[in-house]
Amino acid sequence: MKLLESMPHSVTAKIKGLLSAEEEELIRVSTDLNQEGGFGTDWLVVTDRRLLIVPTTALDSVVEIPIEELTVVQTEALVGGGHLTIERKNKATVTVPYSSSLAEKFSEVTRGIEQLRKGELFLINTQLDRTRCEKCGKLLPEKNGICPACIRRLATLQRIASYLKPYKGHAILLAVVSLIGTGTGVIPPMLIRQIVDGVLVPKEGNTDSMSERLTLLGLLVLGMVGIRVLDWGMEWARGWTVSWLGARITADIRNRLYQQLELLSLQFYDRRQVGAVMSRVTRDAGRLQEFLVEGLPYLIINALMIIGILGILFWMHWLLALLILVPVPFMMGWGVIFWKRMRLYFNKWDQAWSDIMARVNEALSGIRVVKAFAQEVREIAAFQVQNKNIRQLAIRTEINWEIFFATTTLLTSFGMLIVWFFGGREVIRDALTLGTLLAFYAYMWMLYDPIEWFGEVNSWMTRAFAGAERIFEVIDTPAEAYKDPNARSISSIKGHVTFKEVTFGYDKSKPVLHEINLDVAPGEMIGLVGRSGVGKTTTVNLICRFYNVDQGIIEVDGVPIQQIRLEDLRRQIGIVPQEPFLFSGTVAENISYGKPGASFEEIMEAAIAANAHNFIVANPDGYDTQVGERGGALSGGEKQRVAIARAILHDPKILILDEATSSVDVETEKQIQEAIARLTQGRTTFAIAHRLSTLRNADRLAILEGGRIVEMGTHSELIKKKGIFYELVQLQHQTSEIIAVRD
Ligand SMILES: Nc1ncnc2c1ncn2[C@@H]1O[C@H](COP(=O)(O)OP(=O)(O)O)[C@@H](O)[C@H]1O
Ligand SMILES: [Mg+2]
Repeated sequence: MKLLESMPHSVTAKIKGLLSAEEEELIRVSTDLNQEGGFGTDWLVVTDRRLLIVPTTALDSVVEIPIEELTVVQTEALVGGGHLTIERKNKATVTVPYSSSLAEKFSEVTRGIEQLRKGELFLINTQLDRTRCEKCGKLLPEKNGICPACIRRLATLQRIASYLKPYKGHAILLAVVSLIGTGTGVIPPMLIRQIVDGVLVPKEGNTDSMSERLTLLGLLVLGMVGIRVLDWGMEWARGWTVSWLGARITADIRNRLYQQLELLSLQFYDRRQVGAVMSRVTRDAGRLQEFLVEGLPYLIINALMIIGILGILFWMHWLLALLILVPVPFMMGWGVIFWKRMRLYFNKWDQAWSDIMARVNEALSGIRVVKAFAQEVREIAAFQVQNKNIRQLAIRTEINWEIFFATTTLLTSFGMLIVWFFGGREVIRDALTLGTLLAFYAYMWMLYDPIEWFGEVNSWMTRAFAGAERIFEVIDTPAEAYKDPNARSISSIKGHVTFKEVTFGYDKSKPVLHEINLDVAPGEMIGLVGRSGVGKTTTVNLICRFYNVDQGIIEVDGVPIQQIRLEDLRRQIGIVPQEPFLFSGTVAENISYGKPGASFEEIMEAAIAANAHNFIVANPDGYDTQVGERGGALSGGEKQRVAIARAILHDPKILILDEATSSVDVETEKQIQEAIARLTQGRTTFAIAHRLSTLRNADRLAILEGGRIVEMGTHSELIKKKGIFYELVQLQHQTSEIIAVRD
């Protein structure tokens, strides 16, 4: 794992020139403070042999420090930032300053340099949490989130537009009806002008008779009706196409997103809260749809409309047109100020809601604890405080709205006064007809209306695009290797599992497992023993390839698991996880989850083998008992037995039991033990158990400590050895004796 940031070409060229051919660049990071402590970017490059400090402003004064010269490298925290101090043998210490936002990065860099100095394995965490935007340096709204200020709107829009491809016909239809609709929208004031100037106000020398004028009036009004009907038709067609398209596109994006979410690795989920990921499917996709259906057409149509109206106004009377534009900058400025302020309120509003929802969610999920400790009153009071906060926000937001509308009305009324005063004067001087003045008046409103919303559309667009980018970010995250073209398809395996020098850590720089070696013969049952948190679950996670090893190889039947098709691998592994998860649905559906379409006999056989049959049929609904969300209606031990039945029905070659019997009583455990003894025949089994007596049947036991296998052997061998396993067994004996005495 290397930590290489992209750097400007000038610096890249400089460094290329300095490095020799075999030299390997391991770290390349920027600082945000220069040597003097002012703002500026310097670069720190670490290769397998030396450190280079490259000031961007003075490319020729590169400081070069061979690794052998280093004595101590450490970070020092200062107010608002820190130093990387590099101490050297018989030479002055070098410091590299950075601001606090880079502290995490530099602690990884330090770790890496120290590993090189000590000649250890180079292992650093290169996936650092981003709290600031890499481009503009602003704080991000959420960890690893999207910076709203740096959204590439055009690129995002293009990407959204690419989802239009399958619906080309509809998109063209939309463009056509929008254009016609805009045209028909602009015509009515022109007809008013014609009615007033051509019909109502008689011009000198106009000899049209009364009936001729009436006919003309009738025709013009009829024309107006026609235009309105056409406008209505276009509006209807536009509404229809836009809803159709918006819903399809967002549904397509949502499908694509969900597909990706299912295929992403567990590593992706480890770094995120499920709630935040879910909000991408719901909130972000919803905002995008809203914007596509309402915001974007509004923006385009109004832009077209404004251009059209401005053209007509300047054509009719350019000076008056200029004059009615006077309030526009003020309206826009006011809109920008207002929406900036509102965004603040919206953010507070979002925050307040998610806080109160989180609290309600927790308090109601944990209602048993609340009641058990009689803390209802406290919870009620806490809710009231948060609710008051929301109430105040609601009032302030509402007041702001009122002020906004009142002010905009005031500003637009200035435009109205301008039209009446200057326009009126022009009419009196005969430089303008009355009809034109009235048309002006009508156009003015059509012009001001969208400008009022100018500020909002902008923030709307920002929010929608930020949502879209968050969605695209997930879509662009590489999925698990389901489609590896080099993967081998293995339809049936024997179950020979080998660990060769396997090292792994969830955080690359802090390995949980160190150089694990294990060779498990087909059909063998291995017990994994060790204190909680030692890495037992991690070991079995690696067999399923939920995570990829950092070092070493895991083989199944002599084939590295990376080369086996993921689906084939997982199809042959049955796992009873430490915390069994049941889906809402019936017991039968849950048992047959890994084998949809299993017959009822098969399901029942599996349940009998897992010792679950008796408690299932004791229920009036039997196998059709609803287990409720997260298996709420079942006890812990019952859930575990359903999970065991599920694994049995899956009929795997490799069976993993991760504390599968931890929540059942001793009696039931004995029965399940028998079931497991039957079950493990002909299967390679990895069993993790809390009660060590449970592992008596295991062929061999592997004792883990400090992330390493420290003892290995059969139950009796290990007891004889009087090592760590013996101690653990003694400890458990004592505790059970104490409990027995107390009872
Ligand atoms: N998804 C994860 N992300 C980060 N760290 C983890 C994760 N799962 C487990 N760990 C850490 O790895 C270590 C080993 O955990 P685990 O294998 O679950 O232990 P065991 O099953 O032996 O009790 C623990 O320190 C735990 O905190
Ligand atoms: Mg565990």
